[in-house]
Amino acid sequence: MKDPSLRRSLALFRAFMREQADPAAAYELLARDAADQVERYMKLDGRIVVDVGGGSGYFTREFRRRGARGYLFEPDLAELAAKPGEGTVLADGYLLPLATGAADVCFSSNVLEHVADPRTFLSEMVRVTRPGGLIYVSFTNWLSPWGGHEWAPWHYLGAERARARFERRTGRAAKHRLGENLFTIGVGPTLRHVRARGDVDVLSARSRYWPVLPEIVPRVPGLREFATWNLLLILRRCP
Ligand SMILES: C[S@@+](CC[C@H](N)C(=O)[O-])C[C@H]1O[C@@H](n2cnc3c(N)ncnc32)[C@H](O)[C@@H]1O
Repeated sequence: MKDPSLRRSLALFRAFMREQADPAAAYELLARDAADQVERYMKLDGRIVVDVGGGSGYFTREFRRRGARGYLFEPDLAELAAKPGEGTVLADGYLLPLATGAADVCFSSNVLEHVADPRTFLSEMVRVTRPGGLIYVSFTNWLSPWGGHEWAPWHYLGAERARARFERRTGRAAKHRLGENLFTIGVGPTLRHVRARGDVDVLSARSRYWPVLPEIVPRVPGLREFATWNLLLILRRCP
């Protein structure tokens, strides 16, 4: 599907709305979409691709389908598929059991908002990427309408209140708790951080799902915190 386009954004949105009922359809579509985004900068065939925080492995499977040597690094056993595929490693993204420069592509989708120290996490992604290799990182920022995850959009009224409301309404324990496994990451501070780093060039900084001019919104201070939804960064490791 053409990216950006209204058709693509609507398809992703519809899949996302049906994520609970049909997770495979939603994540397979998202994985194909993300792989297409990577392939705009580097063909995946024959490449070593490391998926950090890859959960149940939809992205790694798509990279492999395209000929990459895909490896999944995930610290939480409960997030892995019942039968994790070949190349799955139980490991934390802060300390990847990989040699420096081992990966052609280091990939992370929707993990950065779940770590307490995103800069150290990013540094480890950069470390394992070879010079000239790519780092793909996307995250939902805190002030995004989806920033509170399952308790969104009530997080605008406060995390604890939103969480309590979710539990009262659904009778289920919320998966996320602010400061434990969800953090208030911003678009502006993250962009300033990656632009100031001497070890990467920013190839793309865009709203991951926007149907039009996805590079424009993340450039507007203030507005970008609410309207970007999900920031996608594609970085190239400097020599
Ligand atoms: C919202 S899920 C995203 C899963 C998948 N990447 C996707 O986009 O569908 C967040 C994932 O980040 C993982 N995660 C959290 N902290 C991590 C860390 N320190 N290192 C690596 N992964 C981490 C979680 O276990 C979980 O699988």
